[in-house]
Order: sequence, then structure tokens, then C-alpha cells
Amino acid sequence: MPSDPKKNHTQPKTIYLKDYKEFPFNISDLYLNFDIYDGYTIVTSKARYDLKKDISASEIFLHGEDLELIEIKIDGTLLENYNQTQTGIDFNIADNDSFELEVITKIYPEENTRLEGLYKSSDTYCTQCEAEGFRRITYFPDRPDVMTKYTVRIEANKEHSILLSNGNKIEEGELSNNRHFCIWQDPYPKPCYLFALVAGDLSHIHDTYTTKSGRNVDLYIYVRHGDESQCYHAMESLKRSMKWDEEVYNLEYDLDIYNIVAVSDFNMGAMENKSLNIFNTALVLADQETATDQDFHRVEGVIAHEYFHNWSGNRVTCRDWFQLSLKEGLTVFRDQEFSADMHSKDMQRIDNVTHLRKFQFSEDASPLSHPIRPDNYIEINNFYTMTVYEKGAEVIRMMRTILGVENYHKGADLYFKRHDGKAVTCDDFVKAMEDASGVDLSQFKLWYSQSGTPEIDFKGEYDKAKQSYKTTLTQSHKTPLTIPFSIGLIGANGDDLIETKTLMLEQKSQVFEIENIAQKPVPSLLRGFSAPVKLSSDLSDDDLAFLMVHDSDGFNKWEASNNYQLNEINRVIDTGIVSDIFLKNYGELINSALSLETDVALMARILDLPDISEISQNHDVIDVDAIFTARLKLLAAIKRTHKPILQKLYKQNKTAEIFSITPNAMGKRSLQNLALSLLTATNGTGCAKLAKNQYDNANNMTDRVAALARLSDNNSEAREQAFTDFHDRFKDYPLVIDKWFSLQATSLRKNIIKDIKDLENHPDFNIKNPNRVRSLYSAFAFANPVHFHAKDGSGYDLLKDAVIRLNKINPQIAARLLTSMREWRRYTDDRQAMMRETLSEILRIEDISPDIFEIVSKSLNA
Ligand code: BES
Ligand code: ZN
Repeated sequence: MPSDPKKNHTQPKTIYLKDYKEFPFNISDLYLNFDIYDGYTIVTSKARYDLKKDISASEIFLHGEDLELIEIKIDGTLLENYNQTQTGIDFNIADNDSFELEVITKIYPEENTRLEGLYKSSDTYCTQCEAEGFRRITYFPDRPDVMTKYTVRIEANKEHSILLSNGNKIEEGELSNNRHFCIWQDPYPKPCYLFALVAGDLSHIHDTYTTKSGRNVDLYIYVRHGDESQCYHAMESLKRSMKWDEEVYNLEYDLDIYNIVAVSDFNMGAMENKSLNIFNTALVLADQETATDQDFHRVEGVIAHEYFHNWSGNRVTCRDWFQLSLKEGLTVFRDQEFSADMHSKDMQRIDNVTHLRKFQFSEDASPLSHPIRPDNYIEINNFYTMTVYEKGAEVIRMMRTILGVENYHKGADLYFKRHDGKAVTCDDFVKAMEDASGVDLSQFKLWYSQSGTPEIDFKGEYDKAKQSYKTTLTQSHKTPLTIPFSIGLIGANGDDLIETKTLMLEQKSQVFEIENIAQKPVPSLLRGFSAPVKLSSDLSDDDLAFLMVHDSDGFNKWEASNNYQLNEINRVIDTGIVSDIFLKNYGELINSALSLETDVALMARILDLPDISEISQNHDVIDVDAIFTARLKLLAAIKRTHKPILQKLYKQNKTAEIFSITPNAMGKRSLQNLALSLLTATNGTGCAKLAKNQYDNANNMTDRVAALARLSDNNSEAREQAFTDFHDRFKDYPLVIDKWFSLQATSLRKNIIKDIKDLENHPDFNIKNPNRVRSLYSAFAFANPVHFHAKDGSGYDLLKDAVIRLNKINPQIAARLLTSMREWRRYTDDRQAMMRETLSEILRIEDISPDIFEIVSKSLNA
């Protein structure tokens, strides 16, 4: 379907990787001065531009957007001839191959609702410069390959008692008129996307860390007054991250100070600015009363992620934004491995793979599919995707599998050493891996340029006479990729017959013989999810039922039960009947979860049925109603058949112990809440009673929110009481109020559209706050498939109205919301038609932002 021809805007420009040209000048030092006043800020920037050797240039272009230019001087002389556009400024430099440029701009942080550049969150000024926010502060080459040493002076009224920027504080002082200043200097050259500034009245907690070579580092976390007690988990996580990077990657922190500032208005989760991370409060604050176990986990992971960027991102950065996966894929891989080491390897892998399948596989199955290194974009903010991040991390993981852990670390050492202080490409990373290991990765590199999820077909055959097991692997991809395929073989008694073996699939189809196998095995396929692929195999349900009990690979144990459940749901969709054998096997799993030796966290995940969007990923045509109905039928059958043992499971794991976040305590809570969700699946009065009882007696947020979630579909009085109580109890905790919004937005209640419209008008709703927008609209569009895809199109209309409002306020957030429609072609015809119409209407928005334009036009056209 072609996009609407009567668009009343100029088509935004597409940027191509093949057009990359280096910037002709070096800028070794930059001096910035910020004069912050109520309502506006004056920014002065001074730098010497030196033409690079062997390059000639007669003019220069500097980025700049929404800037009021006050003055521009070259070598002290006012510049009069320049060309100023919406995107920047250009002027002639004649033969001047070294000049000093001074630019004064006026900006309006108070009016900045895009939250890019300098903006105000509550009463705190803060910055967000990645990817291209620096151009909203001053005229500058806003690209990651221009690396500069920064000296920053900040002046503001004394009410803004804390003035922070990157690096070390070198001076501070009092001024007249109730003003004061600070000067910060960062000794490490950096791209401008890592610049940061904070000015506000904040409180903090402090700690120290001594690096392995003996450097004493001061650690600070800054938050709003009153939130200090919720920062200790983040601080402990930071220290664990610093230690882990020393132990595993031999990488140490390189300054005497590390600051983290939490702000409540933030487009993303957190940002790795050199020595001054800025975080969404959602990823810093955590305590027993206000954060779930999952929140605790997220905080730890994101703190680690941003810390790890100090090397994978800051010391070695990206040449251009097409190379984004160089820092993000690698850093996600690093934070995943950190979390695996801190907790359970299997659980971490299960969570990461579930996430990958739900969000990355779906992206790859949509018109927005792109390789981990894209070759073109309109708006770079649209490319902070699951593909660049999560599939990017899988590609690094596969390299480690192929090279082996030791060679992988040799490669990483070489990479950080060879490219320290430089802006480099994904090719440079792979080259370091090849040089350190001697392994040729030229075919493997296709993973960087090929989009789509590869499909692999497995066939296994046991040859009794030869005592060998023959494996045939066939891949679907256009040009064959290198795919590491880990396999185990399990004997009848449940023991492994061989050690896990990694087969290297390099051709379209290959046969591998595994020798010395004395009995017909059950194969355990793609162990640990050794490659991000879709696998089809000839394993039977009996094989899966066997593996979900016996597989020694924890990940594959879960995988087997997940596939078994998916098969059963698909059967219920087709036949309307739940099979007795499934219920029997599921009952055995519950019984094994009751055993005292069980891994509680793993059992909770094994028992958890895939959700609607996971199930959808396995269907060519998505029929949400059919999936929902079948899934509910299965849940009801489980409850009916196994109520007594589920009650036992619930009681056994509902502990009155003192709250703790040890893996065992968290695992028990998840098993308890899994049992709760099964026991309340039918949504009757008894269900409401059970959930309300848990709600009333909860001593932590995990249990409280799990109970509230189970009440939210209800129409009972208990529901109203609990939601009212929750709001009263937590009205001063915006992050908890976000949960209150989300739980209502994901409800299955019939009148949900009206509920959401009421919530839009609730005094606590604020469309300018991204967390609140996500808590209402993203929760609805991504986590309430039943109502988002309502028959009458009301869900799509609701999203459309939100997107239209957000187009002007915060296009980055609007564009993200819209990705919920990218898979419109996969749905049943009626839904397809409505989604296409909705997208077409959005495309007709006057002054449509490039962000939205790109998502909608690509979704419609591909
Ligand atoms: N560099 C990003 C943050 C970012 C991306 C800011 C794009 C602005 C635009 C940061 O390192 C990051 O990746 N944050 C993630 C969390 C992380 C754990 C994957 C985020 O913010 O979601
Ligand atoms: Zn990152």
C-alpha cells in the first residue's frame, strides 16, 4: 500500500552509511560556559578548529537546531556572512586552516518538552545529548567521531545548589546577585553525545570504591530530597559492576569520581555520560515497599550497563551512528553476563531469550526489520532498537562461542588497547577478534548486514549399527550464515550421553555425525540458545515432556516446557479441547515444584505459560481472540484439575519471613505469585478474595502488585478498594503511581477504553512525562493485546489520538509508541484494514515529525 501522496510536508532526508565522510577538522579542546537564568540559558562555546593534514576545506558546517544565535566570532572578529538553516550553520573559512570559533547561543530549557539537549525535569536542569541532542545546545559538529576535551563552567542561582558536569571539579565560587559557579574539566577526549550538565537542588548518598590498582573513587548518587533511602541498592550494584569489570574484562575505572543523577523526566532508561550518568528514577530507586523484585533486577542491570559503557562506548566509541551496535550490543552482552554471574545463569538466559523473541523477533518479522548495523535511517532515535541492542548482543555471544572464552577475552583486550581514545566501527571490533584468535570471521560478519531471523530445520537419526547419531541442519537464509548450534544427547535414564557439542553450520545444509552413541538418544537442541534463530525440529511432545524433566541444561529444560505448552495451546486453538496428558504432565511439574530441593525461580518460569504476544510469534496469521480464548481455557483447566496442589504450592512459598532479595527469597515470591495467578485465573469471587487477602497482607511491592494485577480484571468491590488504597498509600511515589496506571491499562475489563480516557483526565496524568505516558499508552498498546486489537478499532483510535498529541510534545516517545502497529500485516484481515487506515491517518498529521514519518511510512510501504 503506497503512502498517502498528498502529504503537506517536505520528505525528511535519509542518511546513508555509504556517504560517511570524516570531519575535516580536529577540535582538541572545547570551553563551554552556561549562564542559567529563570526561563533561558546563555551558552558560550569556544574552540580552536585545526584542519586535518591532507584535507582541504573552504567552508564548514556545524549542526544546530532550535538555537537563538546571539553572536559568532572567528579569531575574535564578528562573523557576518553565514548561512543559517533549520539544521545548522555554514560559512566560508577561506584559507584559514586553524581558527578559534566563539559561539553564543540562547536556549529555553523550560520549554523543552522533547527532553533532548538541555531541559528541566521538576526543578532540575539536566541534559540528554545522545544521539543528537548537543546540537540543541550550541553550534558544533554533533557527530561521535569528533573527540574533544571539555572544560565546562556552570553559573546559576544558588537555589540550584548542585552544579555538575563531566570529569573533575577544578574550581567553584560565590558570585554577587545570589549566584554561584562551578568549573569542571574532563581529561578524556569525548564525543559531544557524552557531554552532560546538571544543575539543581538535590540530595545525595556517597560511597567509595578502590580499584584494583589502588585508585580511590568517590561514588555519588543524586536524587530529590527524601529519596536517599531508596538509593542503596543502586550503589551496591555500582560497586559490584566495577569489581566485575576488573575481574572479567580487566577494565578499571579511570577517574576519581563517578556521579549518577536520577531525574523523573527521561526518554530512555539511563545514559552513560562520562563520569556523570543521568538516570531515569525508575532505574535507580528501589526499596522493599516500592519496588518489585523485577525492578531490583532492572536497576542492577542498568547501573551495570551504563558503568560498562565507560570502556565499551566512552573510551572506545562509535565512528558514526550506523555503528551503534558496536557499543550497545557489546554492552548489553556485558551486562547480561554480569547479571548471570550475580544471580542464576539459566534464569538470566531464559529472561533474555524470552525478551528477544517477544520484541526482536517481532521487529524482524515486520517492515521495520533491519540488520544490527543498518545502512540508512531518517531519524537515528528510531534505531535504538531491539535488533541493534539484543540481537547485537547475541552476535557478540556467538563470537564468544565460536572463539572460545579465552580467545574472546584476548580479542576484547586487543580491541580496547588498539582503539583506546578512538571512534571506530564494527569491522574494527571483528578484526580485533580475528587478530587475537587467528580465526577467520569473514563469513560470520554477514550477521552485521543481513536482517531477519534465520530459520533452522533439524533432523536427527540414530543408526544403531554404526552407533552414531546423524544430525542434519538446514538454514533458510539467503546467503548462508555461520551458526553455532549447541547440542546435547540424553539417554533413557535422563543422563547426558555426551558433553554439549557445538556444531558449526556454515552451509545451506550440513550433516554432522556424532559417534559412539550406544543407545537411541533424545537430542537437546540449540542448548543455551546458542544462536538467535527459529528452530523447527521433529521432536515429539513425548520428547519435550521428557526434556522438561531431564535436560541438564536449565535453559533447555525451560525451553522444552515452553514448546510443550505452545503445542498444547495451538491444539486447544484448533480443537477446543485440553488434553489429559498435558494436564497430567503439568501436574507432575507442580509436584516437582513442591519438592524441597527444587530451584524455585526456575520452576516458576517453567510453569508460567507463554503470554499472548509470545504465542503470536509462532503464528503466521495472528488471531488475538482465538489465542486469548484458548489460553484462558487452558488456565481454567489447570486450575480445575490441580487446585489442591496449587494451593499447597501457594502456601508453601508464601513466607512470613523477613523480606530479603536473595535469589531464594525472590524465587519463592515468583512461585507464590505464579500459583496465585493460576488460582485466580477464572476471576470468580473466590479469586478476588484470595488476591485481596494477599494485597492486604503484603509487606513488599512484589506481592502487593501481583495481587493487584490479579484483581484488575475483576469488577468486584475488592478491586475498587485495592486500587483506591494503592493510590492513597503511594501518592507521593510517582514510580508506584506509574504501576497504578499500568495495571489499569492492561486490564481485561470490558469498559477499558472509558477507563483509559478517565485516566487521561486524572490529575496525576501528565503527557509530558515519558514514564507516565508509557505507564498508560505503552502498557495498553504492548501489553493489552485483547483490547488494543479490539474488534471495533477503538484501541487503535486511542493510540492514534495519543500519537497525534505527542507528535509536537515528544516525537521520540510518539514514534516508539507507534511501533506497536508495525506488524499490522500479520493480523486477521479486519484488523489489518483498520490498522492500515489508522497508520494512513497518522501520516496525514500536519507537521508530522521525521520520527513518526519514518516509522509510519516504513510500516506501510515495505
Ligand atoms: N546510551 C543509551 C541511552 C540512550 C539511548 C539515550 C538513546 C538516548 C538515546 C544507554 O546506554 C542505554 O542503552 N540505555 C538503555 C538501558 C540499557 C540497560 C539497555 C535504555 O535507556 O533503555
Ligand atoms: Zn547502552
